[in-house]
Amino acid sequence: MTGRDEWRTNVGVKWAAEWRRTDRSFTGLTEELLRHALAIPVHNVLDIGCGAGEIALALARARQQATITGIDLSADLIAVAKARGGNLQNLQFVTGDARNWQPGGQKADLLISRHGTMFFDDPVDAFCNLRSSALPHARLIFSCFRERKFNEWATEFAELSPIVDAPDDEAPGPFAFGRQERIHELLSAAGWSGITYEPIDYAYVAGSGPDAVVDAKSYLLAIGPAAAAAARLDGSARQRFENGMETLLQSRCEQGIVAFRAAAWIVTARPN
Ligand SMILES: C[S@@+](CC[C@H](N)C(=O)[O-])C[C@H]1O[C@@H](n2cnc3c(N)ncnc32)[C@H](O)[C@@H]1O
Repeated sequence: MTGRDEWRTNVGVKWAAEWRRTDRSFTGLTEELLRHALAIPVHNVLDIGCGAGEIALALARARQQATITGIDLSADLIAVAKARGGNLQNLQFVTGDARNWQPGGQKADLLISRHGTMFFDDPVDAFCNLRSSALPHARLIFSCFRERKFNEWATEFAELSPIVDAPDDEAPGPFAFGRQERIHELLSAAGWSGITYEPIDYAYVAGSGPDAVVDAKSYLLAIGPAAAAAARLDGSARQRFENGMETLLQSRCEQGIVAFRAAAWIVTARPN
């Protein structure tokens, strides 16, 4: 589980330090999400759980007549996003919680999120509040991972660890919105309808550059399920885990890139 308190503190700090490599891991997905967003005319956009701001920045550059606001729980991530987007007049980043955030001016006609919504502690409350921040004709577009079993970047490292536990994939975290039925239930309860789901398979790039395996290992030991598994081990168990990681990463290195299969949904909806 990665909930509000973790994002506000240690997890937010790690993502703020690793924003270049997290953006890289999402490259294939980002193109698809932006394809959806750029297909509709927009005036006021809200990027929910914007993190270090890549989606908000891309939209602010592509839609210069629109106003783009990114909100996130993590003050550390918002500081990075502000530094990246400092010179854009139509872009602002604010520390805030989707559960109670209120627009200062116009309501949004596009509410977008790349992998932010599945971390909501109270998804129905948050989607209800977002609905009240949306114009009647607004679109909600967000990405989230499909079920864990389709996401090699998570399953392959779990298999290397001697500690076996049954994670609660419906708790706030990467797979909380893995099942379409659950997304449907939560969005419908919060007053959203016309829900569509597009499955997107993409390459989760973990490492690249002159030594892609070393790059991937340091990235995966900083963020995500391999980092969490490694943190629970010490001594020879930790060494075996890291050796196993290296073998796996070498087997996944092709043409200077270490990548794993990732499976996501792009979900769209409208206010009732
Ligand atoms: C996996 S990160 C994705 C960040 C960013 N969208 C990206 O693609 O790089 C999830 C983000 O959602 C944010 N988040 C989680 N719950 C939130 C909430 N209730 N309100 C605002 N942001 C939230 C976290 O702080 C975190 O930055």
